[in-house]
Amino acid sequence: ELQPKVVIVIFGATGDLAKRKLFPSIYRLYQSGKISENFAVVGLARRPWTDEILRENVANSIKEAVSPNEDLEEFISHFYYQSFDVTDDSSYSGLHALINELEGAYQTEENRVFYLAMAPEFFGTIANKLQEYGLKDFAGWSRLVIEKPFGTDLKSARKLNKQLRAAFDEEQIYRIDHYLGKEMVQNIEVIRFANGIFEHLWNNRFISNVQVTSSETLGVEERARYYDTSGATRDMVQNHMLQMVALLAMEPPIKLTTDEIRSEKIKVLRALRPIDPKEIDNFFVRGQYGVGKIDGETVPAYLDEDDELENSNTETFVAGKLLIDNYRWAGVPFYIRTGKRLAEKSTKIVIEFKDIPMNLYYKKDKDRHPNLLIINIQPNEGITLCLNAKKSGSGSLAEPIQLAYNHNEVPGINTPEAYEKLLYDCMIGDATNFTHWDEVALSWKFVDTIINEWSNNTADFPNYRSGSMGPDAADELLAKDGFHWWSI
Ligand code: BG6
Repeated sequence: ELQPKVVIVIFGATGDLAKRKLFPSIYRLYQSGKISENFAVVGLARRPWTDEILRENVANSIKEAVSPNEDLEEFISHFYYQSFDVTDDSSYSGLHALINELEGAYQTEENRVFYLAMAPEFFGTIANKLQEYGLKDFAGWSRLVIEKPFGTDLKSARKLNKQLRAAFDEEQIYRIDHYLGKEMVQNIEVIRFANGIFEHLWNNRFISNVQVTSSETLGVEERARYYDTSGATRDMVQNHMLQMVALLAMEPPIKLTTDEIRSEKIKVLRALRPIDPKEIDNFFVRGQYGVGKIDGETVPAYLDEDDELENSNTETFVAGKLLIDNYRWAGVPFYIRTGKRLAEKSTKIVIEFKDIPMNLYYKKDKDRHPNLLIINIQPNEGITLCLNAKKSGSGSLAEPIQLAYNHNEVPGINTPEAYEKLLYDCMIGDATNFTHWDEVALSWKFVDTIINEWSNNTADFPNYRSGSMGPDAADELLAKDGFHWWSI
């Protein structure tokens, strides 16, 4: 296995993402031998921390996340801190000197990852200053990792992309969508293209509809300021939900290369039928949570989470019906739904197959159970196939049975965290599970219509109870088509 040699520069090293995801991921890569001794991490942020304070924080974050049973001294000695002002030129020359020094000490062959895990308004500035101060043009490779949000609409995303591209090539830009680092999201492609029994049926002749649900129990927490300008459509649909749809709907790539896979996904996004604003209610449903109970505890309405939210028109829930206008999918609705403060934390995909033309094994029509393939993304990871078989002892009636393969039930399998995989992919130069600019642009184009239309009309919020599965209209969306959301 490749052991990349690298200096990782984290902008926003005092932040939440660094603490919860990046430090533990780097540790796991180190522990599993995916990175060797030849690495150093430079943490940057405004605060006047020292190397020692950073190292202490790194150690704590690792203890919380992975409870290591070894001494962390050697590992954390690879971390360095520099207090940094992104708009101040001397910060960049200081960074340059530090990187040079570390490259000598750790023999990292001038390979550099610049990870932007901070306020998005500075992404463009940083990228350009890195270029201006000669930080990215060296004997090794330089890669720029960009956290979400990548813009707030197509226009701002274009502007940001232009700024980035003035300094970095598309091949050097790694746009994170952490759902693409999830084990079972990566597995969608394998389940589809490595199984004759699925791939031959994977089209509008045999599939009646597809349902993608990503539900959360958490509310906005401390992120009200960000979230209220975002809403569920920008926060989850533009990126994670559309990425899952693209993977479910894409044609088999001719090779498993980054370019081939991405270009198949791009084609799906191009085939998405744009929403006609006049018809939005027939395709999209928005919601905002009211009071309710989560795990037996009463939780407040979104509007009461923060003083600033009092009159908020922001959606914390979206359900939608997507149509993909191509030969494979014409006529098959892809339903998506995601929201905060729902009944459970779970992401799953249900593929509902068409029923056979005539079924003799049911007493009543309502006993029918179409075949379902369920791809469990989280917290369970695995697949469940719902079939029909004879009910024991009762003549020839059918009953639904499930074949399940679930990772979490297999002891000893510890699936790596999304960020761990993505960070490693970036270090070995594999951009497959990062989003290409074209995907970002097409996704924004699609959701912009919805967001615009909604921002022009005040919704009647709150319209769903915390702890429920969203507003009734989300159920009606499927009922109109003769379907319902499966919860299995
Ligand atoms: C993030 C969103 O991108 O994804 C959050 O900004 C959301 O609002 C999170 O909670 C969900 O990710 P996961 O991995 O917990 O499903």
